[in-house]
This record gives sequence, structure tokens and C-alpha cells, in this order.
Amino acid sequence: MTLHPELKLSFIGAGNMAQAIIKGLLKQGLSPEQISATTSREESAQAASTELGIHCHCDNHAAVADADIIVLAVKPQKLEDVCQSLKASIKPGALVLSVAAGIRCSSMEHWLGSIAIARSMPNTPSAIGLGASGLYSNSQCSTEQKQQARAILEAVGICAEVEQEQQIDAVTAVSGSAPAYFFLFAEAMIDAGEKLGLNRDVATQLALQTAHGAAALAQSNELDVAELRRRVTSPKGTTEQAILSFEKGGLRDLVENAMRACTRRAAELSDELGNNS
Ligand SMILES: NC(=O)c1ccc[n+]([C@@H]2O[C@H](COP(=O)([O-])OP(=O)(O)OC[C@H]3O[C@@H](n4cnc5c(N)ncnc54)[C@H](OP(=O)(O)O)[C@@H]3O)[C@@H](O)[C@H]2O)c1
Repeated sequence: MTLHPELKLSFIGAGNMAQAIIKGLLKQGLSPEQISATTSREESAQAASTELGIHCHCDNHAAVADADIIVLAVKPQKLEDVCQSLKASIKPGALVLSVAAGIRCSSMEHWLGSIAIARSMPNTPSAIGLGASGLYSNSQCSTEQKQQARAILEAVGICAEVEQEQQIDAVTAVSGSAPAYFFLFAEAMIDAGEKLGLNRDVATQLALQTAHGAAALAQSNELDVAELRRRVTSPKGTTEQAILSFEKGGLRDLVENAMRACTRRAAELSDELGNNS
């Protein structure tokens, strides 16, 4: 879906995540006049304006007054204050899309009142258009607004909608925090490659290109990842030895436990950051 050219989008916060999404939207053909953004400091508003070619300023109230879609892109710790201060200025019928990690819709409803709110969990590869986001929309969102929220996130990658808000914590474990797991795995491979006699730069290039290639191969293939793995694991071959070693070391349990810990922490953070009355 493309966003209607008459929709007005206001980003509250113009940092890394907001800039990635705005660049994605402009690349998709949204006009710079459709989008504005705010920051807390004049210097950063000026810098974001220059970087993005859109109007950036520090007046949150003016920014939301005529916005059809408000994207909340400040740090989670600032969201409560921002929401409370904006409550009276939001145009009736507007959609609020939050990209802030860990803040539940129920908290935002408490701060903003009963309005259409969509909550997303993007990840860092959004910065290069390869993000993977989860999206939950509250019951006030119309079908069109859900599509709009999705279209905004798809400007920087793929977006998976979830039916229950709690599933966003699982999204945090599967994609939100997951770039770090792959970095850790690559780090371990690079260290091992060096111990096996390769120069570190060579080990780095080979490990990262292999991660990129394996992901692209799996995405372009109808076979599931387990089958792709079996197909590169010949009996009595080299890969089999490595896979057996991973299995013997309990890799699957390790991954599950790590992701359960991540999900638990996501829920705890939402309790800490939100309003749970
Ligand atoms: N970065 C990621 O990959 C990523 C991934 C998932 C989720 N997120 C979520 O995205 C949100 C933003 O993260 P980020 O990495 O983009 O942070 P960031 O780079 O620090 O940007 C925060 C922005 O918010 C602005 N801001 C602060 N207080 C404000 C206020 N009262 N009114 C208007 N703007 C205000 C800041 O302006 P000044 O610089 O002038 O203070 C800055 O432009 C966070 O909630 C985070 O959880 C980010």
C-alpha cells in the first residue's frame, strides 16, 4: 500500500529510527511537504532538516495539530511526558504510531486517551532498508489506519502484524534484539577462523558474506531452513561434523533459553516504563 499524497505525517523525534523511516518514505515517493519532524533542540532540528530535506522544528504541538499520522520516535523514557503534553493537540481521528521499544498501547492510551494507536517493534537494519518490524494495532485503529502503519514500517523493510500485544515481546526476541545474536555468532566464527589460521579481515569478510548469502538463499527459496541445512550436510562430510558439535553442545536449548530471557525482560521493561494501573 502507498500512503495517500494528502496525508500529513509528523514525526516526534528525528533521531536514528525516525530518519531511517523518513528516508525510506521519501525514497518511496512521499513528498517532503507531507512529512515534518520535531526534536528537543534547535541544532538537531537544523541538522535533521539539512539531512532529510523536510521541515524540522521543536514545536510538538504545531507538529501534531494538523497531522493525520503521528509517529512517536523519541526514547522510551521520554514517551510519557511527550504523550501527556500532546494529548490536547492531537487532531481527532489521527493515528499514533509508536516505534518506541517496550511501551504498551495500554500505557499510551492512559497518557493519550482512547485514540487509534499502533505499536511497532523495529530493528536496527531498518537503517539500511532491511528492517524486520512487528506491529500491533489497538481496537480504535481502522483497517485503513492499520494499513497505513504497515506501509510506514515497510518503507524500511518487512512488517509482521500480530493479533495480541503480548506477541510484541516475542517479536523483540525474534527480530528486535536479534541482530545482536547474529553479530555474536559472527564474532565467535571470526575468532575461531583466526585461531584456525586465517587473517582476521579475511575471516570477517568470509563469515559476513556467508551470513548474508545464507539469509538471501533461504529467503529466495521455497525450502525451509531445516531442509536447506540438511542439503548442505552430506553424510560423513565436513559440515556434518560441525552440526553434530553444535547439537551436542545444546545450541537449540541455548537459543530458546536466550530468547525466553529476552521476552521476559521485554515484559519487565514494559512494566517499568509504562503505566500499569
Ligand atoms: N535505533 C534503532 O534501531 C531502534 C530500534 C528499535 C526501536 N527504536 C526506538 O526508536 C525510538 C528512537 O530511537 P533512536 O535510536 O532513533 O533515538 P535517537 O537517535 O536518540 O533520537 C531521539 C530523537 O528524539 C528527539 N527528542 C527527544 N526529546 C524530544 C521531545 N520532547 N520532543 C521531540 N523530540 C524529542 C531527539 O532530539 P534531540 O537530539 O534534539 O534531543 C532525537 O531527535 C526509541 O524509542 C527506540 O526504542 C530504535
